[in-house]
Amino acid sequence: MSSSLAHHKIAAAAETCKAKRLMAFSLGDTRVIVTCNHDVAREILSSSVFADRPVKESAYSLMFNRAIGFAPYGVYWRTLRRIAATHLFCPKQIKGSEEQRRLIASKMVTLFANHHGRSFHVRDVLKRASLNNMTASIFGRKYKLDCADNEVEELRALSNHIPTQGSNKRDARDFVDVLLSLQGADKLSDSDMIAVLWEMIFRGIDTVAVLIEWILARIVLHPDVQSMVHDELDDVVGRSRAVDESDVMNLIYLAAVIKEVLRLHSPGPLLSWARLAITDTTVDGYHVPKGTTAMVNMWAISRDPQEWADPLEFIPDRFVAKQGEMEFSVLGSDLRLAPFGSGRRSCPGKNLGLTTVTFWVATLLHEFEWLPSDQNAVDLSEVLKLSCEMANPLSVKVHPRRTLSSSY
Ligand code: HEM
Repeated sequence: MSSSLAHHKIAAAAETCKAKRLMAFSLGDTRVIVTCNHDVAREILSSSVFADRPVKESAYSLMFNRAIGFAPYGVYWRTLRRIAATHLFCPKQIKGSEEQRRLIASKMVTLFANHHGRSFHVRDVLKRASLNNMTASIFGRKYKLDCADNEVEELRALSNHIPTQGSNKRDARDFVDVLLSLQGADKLSDSDMIAVLWEMIFRGIDTVAVLIEWILARIVLHPDVQSMVHDELDDVVGRSRAVDESDVMNLIYLAAVIKEVLRLHSPGPLLSWARLAITDTTVDGYHVPKGTTAMVNMWAISRDPQEWADPLEFIPDRFVAKQGEMEFSVLGSDLRLAPFGSGRRSCPGKNLGLTTVTFWVATLLHEFEWLPSDQNAVDLSEVLKLSCEMANPLSVKVHPRRTLSSSY
């Protein structure tokens, strides 16, 4: 089941067995239930019974159980969520890192502009930009976007910078400083801190870069959509200046494009894989014993023909609220599309992730027209790794839309 495209296989099995609402099976000794239905998904994700995660024995030796995403539901997990919510994910912190996102966006623009007229892959620069963004927030440390070093080597170098309680005091107050300064019941051991920091880096880098690559792929594939985003950017921002983060709230059509990409190409199609039943419970009228693993196939739910008209078509307009309608929220209140999960274990980085993705995509589209490369057509095949990525990296060409300002 952990092989690639498990979300496709589960959806096909549920369809064949006519068990889209709830399907049960065993993986070795593990009892599993899975839903491809948004009502049942709500029942599972909002229940405190499923606030735990299954953790394999091997994960304990790697200390994964001490990171937020794998920590058992309890005091330790709650403390970590509170600390991260206060010091990394709250609106004030997100606003505080605006300048950092702007600088990284302008570096990306410069790098992409150097390829003018020639085909190139976007993935490395996006991953490096995302790495830079997370390491700046967490360690106060920046890396070059254009350096050719391998990412693994870079992360290895980074691990030498994870400070411990005895380290010298540093100047900037980043997330590491916050963790080091915790006292009393909140105080974390060195190994707990390392587990939390690694998790932020891994989750924060991949999801953001993968989502932007999918968005750019769709933008290249749908020139009509691209031209509507360009028109909106010209209206809201104009061509005489760069995009500012404050413009983003007025980019209604761009927000709809991003939602439509999340619907069709969510980086986490099975959410974070699994929740664990802490006690015996009932789901959709069926008895579910304690210790059962529950999965939500968000990929299948967000393509369900009973909920979405023309579900396989790319139609951003479906997310543009008509007069008197409420805007569709992708933050977990409507389970027909909840790419960040929902309930107690939903993604704590969702606002930071969406802010970063929206601002960077707005900037990249404002600066360039995006075209297919000469050799490689856009291929929407998926591969399920840490996130669900494009199996064949996106290759593009860009044409500048305006003279790059001195801020680049
Ligand atoms: C586009 C960006 C992102 C997407 C699509 C995404 C998606 C998800 C999903 C689907 C889950 C599981 C939710 C559930 O089980 O209900 C999750 C959990 C989590 N995410 Fe994200 N995420 C994103 C960005 C981030 C960022 C930027 C960070 C941190 C810097 C982050 C940190 C976490 C953590 C720590 C958890 C585990 C929460 C827990 O178990 O309590 N995510 N994310």
